[in-house]
Amino acid sequence: MSILPLKSLLAFKERADLNLCQEFICFNPARLPTPAQWVTVERIRVKEAFTRVWWMSPTTKPKADNRHVLTKYSKSMKRLLEKGTYNSGRRPSQHRIGQKSFLTHHKGAIPPNVLVPPLQEMLVEVLPISNTRSDDPYQIYCRKHGIDPHPARMPMRLVEFFIEFLTDPGDLVLDPFAGSNTTGFAAESLGRHWLSIESQEQYVNASRARFQAADSNVQGK
Ligand SMILES: C[S@@+](CC[C@H](N)C(=O)[O-])C[C@H]1O[C@@H](n2cnc3c(N)ncnc32)[C@H](O)[C@@H]1O
Repeated sequence: MSILPLKSLLAFKERADLNLCQEFICFNPARLPTPAQWVTVERIRVKEAFTRVWWMSPTTKPKADNRHVLTKYSKSMKRLLEKGTYNSGRRPSQHRIGQKSFLTHHKGAIPPNVLVPPLQEMLVEVLPISNTRSDDPYQIYCRKHGIDPHPARMPMRLVEFFIEFLTDPGDLVLDPFAGSNTTGFAAESLGRHWLSIESQEQYVNASRARFQAADSNVQGK
């Protein structure tokens, strides 16, 4: 297994003086088995099913608000809020749970740092069959105009999560390696300003498709 990503993390921390605020795991069970030689031919490794996302910052307490990214309560939590009672006291983990600790309705649960994109989105963004999904406006636009879609796009929901978690409407979001500009499009949809940098002109040109496709949808064309 290559440890280049881990070396990069240490270099970001030690040489660029960035703080690691939190590590996120993007779980993706639909990912193709890689490296194929080890997983499917020699059968000496299991399938890699997650990607790491490192949230790093030059300051130790960058702006963030987990109330912007609350998820739906689980069924058991909903039941607990309805019932209004549970066993308080000390847990085997040594946490002391007070009599009312869990009874405040916060309009949603604090999400875990394991992100599981909706299955549809995973299929679109990660598997090679992604390019065949027929209802993705970016794909449709690229096909119609003979443009090659960017081969390594991020799931839109992943970008939206971090924009909502870490910024407010009106803030500026920068992506220095923009590719198909998933970040710029998500930022614009969420009312943020954006600045995106991409070295390959063909990817810049293709990224316009995101905005033109969205305009066409709005206008019902
Ligand atoms: C993994 S892709 C990003 C994909 C993007 N997140 C998306 O959802 O479409 C990385 C991009 O960085 C671009 N890139 C690499 N080195 C660069 C540099 N020095 N300056 C600007 N862009 C660069 C590549 O051309 C590539 O499109």
